[in-house]
Amino acid sequence: MSSQIDHLLTETRRFAPSPEFAADAVAKADLYERAAADREGFWAEQSRELLHWEKPFTQVLDWSTPPFAKWFADGELNVAYNCLDRHVEAGNGDRVALLWEGEPGDSRTVTYAELTDEVKRLANVLTDLGVGAGDRVAIYLPMIPEAIASMLAVARIGAIHSVVFGGFSADSLRSRIDDAGAKLVITADGGYRKGKVSPLKPAVDQALSDRGDGAQLTVEHVLVVKRGENEVEWTEGRDLWWHDVVPQAPAEHTAQAFPSENPLYILYTSGTTGKPKGILHTSGGYLTQAAFTHRNVFDLRPESDVYWCTADIGWVTGHTYVAYGPLANGATQVLYEGTPEFPAPGRWWDIVEKYGVTILYTAPTAIRGFMKQGRVIPQQRDLSSLRVLGSVGEPINPEAWVWYRDVIGGGKTPIVDTWWQTETGAIMVSALPGVTEAKPGSAQVPLPGISIDVVDEKAEHVGNGNGGLLVITEPWPSMLRGIWGDPERYKETYWDKFAEQGYYFAGDGARLDEDGDIWLLGRVDDVMNVSGHRLSTAEIESALVAHEATAEAAVVGASDETTGQAVVAYCVLKESYLSSHENIEDLAQELRSWVASQIGAIARPREIYIVTELPKTRSGKIMRRLLRDVAEGREVGDTTTLADTMVMSTIQSKVGKK
Ligand code: WTA
Repeated sequence: MSSQIDHLLTETRRFAPSPEFAADAVAKADLYERAAADREGFWAEQSRELLHWEKPFTQVLDWSTPPFAKWFADGELNVAYNCLDRHVEAGNGDRVALLWEGEPGDSRTVTYAELTDEVKRLANVLTDLGVGAGDRVAIYLPMIPEAIASMLAVARIGAIHSVVFGGFSADSLRSRIDDAGAKLVITADGGYRKGKVSPLKPAVDQALSDRGDGAQLTVEHVLVVKRGENEVEWTEGRDLWWHDVVPQAPAEHTAQAFPSENPLYILYTSGTTGKPKGILHTSGGYLTQAAFTHRNVFDLRPESDVYWCTADIGWVTGHTYVAYGPLANGATQVLYEGTPEFPAPGRWWDIVEKYGVTILYTAPTAIRGFMKQGRVIPQQRDLSSLRVLGSVGEPINPEAWVWYRDVIGGGKTPIVDTWWQTETGAIMVSALPGVTEAKPGSAQVPLPGISIDVVDEKAEHVGNGNGGLLVITEPWPSMLRGIWGDPERYKETYWDKFAEQGYYFAGDGARLDEDGDIWLLGRVDDVMNVSGHRLSTAEIESALVAHEATAEAAVVGASDETTGQAVVAYCVLKESYLSSHENIEDLAQELRSWVASQIGAIARPREIYIVTELPKTRSGKIMRRLLRDVAEGREVGDTTTLADTMVMSTIQSKVGKK
């Protein structure tokens, strides 16, 4: 990949930690040395420090049957006890766990004592319904406190949850319920989205309906939270209202300790094939890395911080950085039910101001969306409480990074760009605030105790200044333990590519800069090959959004007779640009030249289309596959996972091809 063009690497801005921040930072620079000297000893020490083990472990890592890892295997703990009871026992029962804000403007404050009480009652209900250790429970809920309580109650009794994002269809829910063989579904009548109640229970009914295919349904009960007040159908004997059973259940429940490798959850994620993979995570190692990263990457002070991760619990970020990490650390956090635009674009900033949020963790797509609306909206609010900002989910282009720091962070906050995956369970690559000098656009360095490399196809280290494939070279505590029900697919997908070396293949392209810092370049399937030169979609998108007119850009490699692949770009313009420029006819041409001037002529897009929106999944990922279909003049493929299925027809009419 030596011909990789390095626009991103011309980014030279650097942001050193302020001396005041550095002096008092949670993360200390010596973590790196300690972890390097004895990696397993380091994790053992973190685990003992951060968690309560009912039966202390004596083994750290068992890697005798790779790629199946066991961490702290002879130890026993209860995950929910670690997230709840122990904080109450330590005298922090009155500390707020959840500052919940509903989309219509209602709110609830839940303390650690209250959440513990709710989880104990629910654990008793689950046991009464016949759910026991190892059983699977599907959770299909909006972002309400009951969602967190449900995850923890399932964990408390040693059962396994499978959270399905509330925006997924009945079909997706059905296939996930079937794959996991779930015994119980926890849902709500509906939840609020964009000012309306979006129904959930009807989708559960549909998912559980008899389809005449002879398939045996595993679900015995459906537990329903009343939230949307929408009309729902009722199946007597199967369905139960939460408010009828949970408050009445006994509040006494002793948390039994389970082995460290007891499964905690399954979370489905899309792979390169059509069938979602059920990523399996277990208890002790997962919780160790969740707590360690949450504390050190966000500089967490549980006594004083108000933390807010905007992810939905339907995604892994919502598992590790809404449910498990913050609660294991005894943090106070905001939980918000709705969308950033409701009732008006400043909603998130109203929430930051109202609760005095100090740590904000969100995704680049959201940040670019806010850039599009302009800085006036956030600047009308008092955001001065913010002291650490985080980014996750895709590469953050330097312009968005700098905007985030300037406009949201008041030009002073450290920004942590955190690279990880559903499969890694917790953050793997990130700056440490107060320790690392930040570089906009680079995720930078592996965390202490994590071994990452960038290698070529032959598994050889590429060396500084070169690009290649990101691999994880040593097992880590929160690693996936497999794909539910499919150990072969687990080996094939992640371990076969570098089987000889025993490296985990992440599927991401990356470059090392002259300092050896890591720059993520997007999925390797998003890497284009134009006239024998490798170009990353992220790289060209970054150049496009650095132009004053562009708010968002998506780039795809379309097949081209002459050059193999050609660059095709789709751009969404900034409102401010549109309102101050009447004539945008020549803009596509100007942007093509702009990219050429920023990166090199080879990167000049063959076509640029100005569009009003990009096709995104409900989790905010751009579906480049669909844009590639349009660019190549093909029938557009499956659009069912799009948040808004109309987007593609609008784009096609713009492009004027089938
Ligand atoms: C991408 C989300 C660049 C990457 C936690 C990875 C990132 C995939 C970053 C996993 C980042 C995540 N910089 N790319 N900071 N964080 N990614 O499973 O391609 O939803 O493989 O987990 O998102 O997505 P997933």
